[in-house]
Amino acid sequence: MESFFSEDYEAHTIHNWIDRANVNSTERELIDKVLKNKDSIAMEAGTGSGVIAFYLESLGVKEVHAFDIIEAMVTKARNSAKERNSKVNFEQANAIALTCYADSKFNYLFYLQQVLSMVPYKELPSALKEGLRVGSDDATYVFSFMDFSSRWYNGLLLFLRGIALLLQGVKPKYRGIPELVVDGKYNFKFFGKNQFCIQWYRLREIEALVKKMGYQVLESYSGGQIYSNSQQNLFLICKKKV
Ligand SMILES: C[S@@+](CC[C@H](N)C(=O)[O-])C[C@H]1O[C@@H](n2cnc3c(N)ncnc32)[C@H](O)[C@@H]1O
Repeated sequence: MESFFSEDYEAHTIHNWIDRANVNSTERELIDKVLKNKDSIAMEAGTGSGVIAFYLESLGVKEVHAFDIIEAMVTKARNSAKERNSKVNFEQANAIALTCYADSKFNYLFYLQQVLSMVPYKELPSALKEGLRVGSDDATYVFSFMDFSSRWYNGLLLFLRGIALLLQGVKPKYRGIPELVVDGKYNFKFFGKNQFCIQWYRLREIEALVKKMGYQVLESYSGGQIYSNSQQNLFLICKKKV
C-alpha cells in the first residue's frame, strides 16, 4: 500500500504505538459521551495496536471495524484479536481512500490520536470526504488534531525550519513540523528537507475546514479542557451537515 511515510518514520511510528495497551481518560470520556446506541456499527481510523477498537467492542458495540495504513500494525491488531477472541475487523487502508468500506456503513467514526495530523495537509480534504461517504446520515464523528496553539514555540520552529528549507532550495510546507524527539533522542535531522511532518492546526481553522467539507460541529475542545494528558490535541464532535 502506498504510504505517506518514509521507512524511518514508519519504523518510528511502529516503535511508539504498537505496544499501546490502554485507552486514556480523554478517549474514554469522549467515547462514553457520544456512544448512545450500542446496537450500531463503529469505525476507528489509524488503529495501531487496536486498543481503541477493542475498547469499543468491550463497551458492547455490535460491530467494530478499524484500519491502519501500516501493515505491521494491522498484523499486530489481528493477532491480538485472535488472542482475545475478538470480532473486531481490521483492514489495511489509507484514510484518504477507504475502498474496503461501503457507503453509509458506520454510525460512529472515531479519528483519535494523531491519525488526521499524520495525513498531509493537501490530502486532509480527501480524508474528510471519505469519512462523509462511509458514515450513515445520522453518523457521529469524533475527530482529533494536533493543536498548534498548545506549544508556544511552534511558530518559532516553523519560522526557523522555513529558513532552513529555503536555504536548501525547498519551498516550506504548510504547518508541517517534524518530530522534535525520535525514539527518545533529539531529532538532529529536524531541519532536513526529507523529514515527515505532523500537521498542527488552530481550533478555528480546523473547524472552518471541517464545516466547509460538509460537517456540522456540535462540540469542540482543546485537550487541556478535558484531561491534562491530551493537552496537545484538539477534539471535534461532528455530524453530517443536513
Ligand atoms: C498516533 S498513532 C495512534 C494509534 C492508535 N489509534 C492508538 O491510539 O494507539 C496513529 C496511527 O495512525 C496511522 N495512520 C497515519 N496516517 C494514516 C492514514 N493516512 N491512513 C490510515 N492510518 C494512518 C498510523 O500508522 C498510526 O498507527
